[in-house]
Amino acid sequence: MRNLDQNTITDSALERIAQCSNPRLKEVMTALIRHLHEFAREVNLTPNEWMKGIEFLTAVGHITDDKRQEFILLSDTLGLSALVDLLANRGKSEAATESSLLGPFFREGAPELPAGASIARGIEREPLLVHGRVTSTEGKAVSGAQIDVWQASSSGQYDLQFDNFKGAEMNLRARFRTDAQGRFNFASVKPSSYPVPSDGPVGKMLNALGRHPFRPAHIHFIISAAGYQPLVTALYIDGDKYIDSDVVFGSREQLVVKYQRSSSANVDSIEYNFAIETEALHSSP
Ligand code: BEZ
Ligand code: FE
Repeated sequence: MRNLDQNTITDSALERIAQCSNPRLKEVMTALIRHLHEFAREVNLTPNEWMKGIEFLTAVGHITDDKRQEFILLSDTLGLSALVDLLANRGKSEAATESSLLGPFFREGAPELPAGASIARGIEREPLLVHGRVTSTEGKAVSGAQIDVWQASSSGQYDLQFDNFKGAEMNLRARFRTDAQGRFNFASVKPSSYPVPSDGPVGKMLNALGRHPFRPAHIHFIISAAGYQPLVTALYIDGDKYIDSDVVFGSREQLVVKYQRSSSANVDSIEYNFAIETEALHSSP
């Protein structure tokens, strides 16, 4: 039997998976084992500390159910979700609009509304107009593109979080189609920054690390059109207090928009042109 020490144990653990017949699984697990072992050596992890870590992960699992995904929140707040998204979009054209996190508040089946309609039903405060175009990365108009939009209210809540929410109704979310010139426009209310759920273990972690739980004010979009890659992104409101410290690392300079006040309408508006990439001929696994 071979003697193990704090260094040789890593090779020993890697030898155990040498026969793995799935090459990608083997690659991922090899790197995971190497980095986990290196992490433990680097910080000189004590048994007591690792038990605290296990208790933390157990609590993350216990609070997770079909309505709440604390593991995704953990990944989001550690920057891992944003990193995986950046890696997936590495090969994209410079001209393409950057992606941003989908988040947990997207709901299928939002109502399709005509151009110019308001997505805010029964909410009057802080009106906002949103308009722009969808083009290809070469600047060609994409007509008939589907725009899924959803956002929090001016007090930082999605419809699912409204006090009077009963289960099925939709608010502050809708679908639009671009016209022949690729244009879209809709009315809404100004979104507000909001905290991610912070009453669980991830909230405790943020607090212990001296971090705030807020996302800057934003509006989510999914843009899809035949022949193009779907774009999951969001627009972030310039001047928001949390714009440079988004708790889930989603805000990007390219996606920051400013409120503009037109002389004709007494209401603020934002304008943005989304550039989407044609569908890859061969997608990677
Ligand atoms: C969101 O923007 O909706 C969101 C994204 C990640 C975690 C929590 C919320
Ligand atoms: Fe959001």
